[in-house]
Amino acid sequence: MSPGRAGDDSDAMNEARITSYRDGPLLVRGPFRLEDQDGNEIEAGAGTIALCRCGKSRLRPFCDGSHKVVRFRAPSGAESGRGG
Ligand code: FES
Repeated sequence: MSPGRAGDDSDAMNEARITSYRDGPLLVRGPFRLEDQDGNEIEAGAGTIALCRCGKSRLRPFCDGSHKVVRFRAPSGAESGRGG
């Protein structure tokens, strides 16, 4: 682990952390700005947010729990077969 990375509370206060959940959304914690492709801010409120990655939410880009209904399946980590 490099200095100033995971586990360092001072960094945790200064950078966003995005966590990919198995069969679910991407949770974003920390300071961030969410915007559309034209640079317009998407109001996300304060604190942790969940971004949909199943494509079925009715609140996109936010998760509304629909991933459970559609039984979305994806690993928490990167899928193998990703180009490189
Ligand atoms: S990941 Fe939750 S609704 Fe898509």
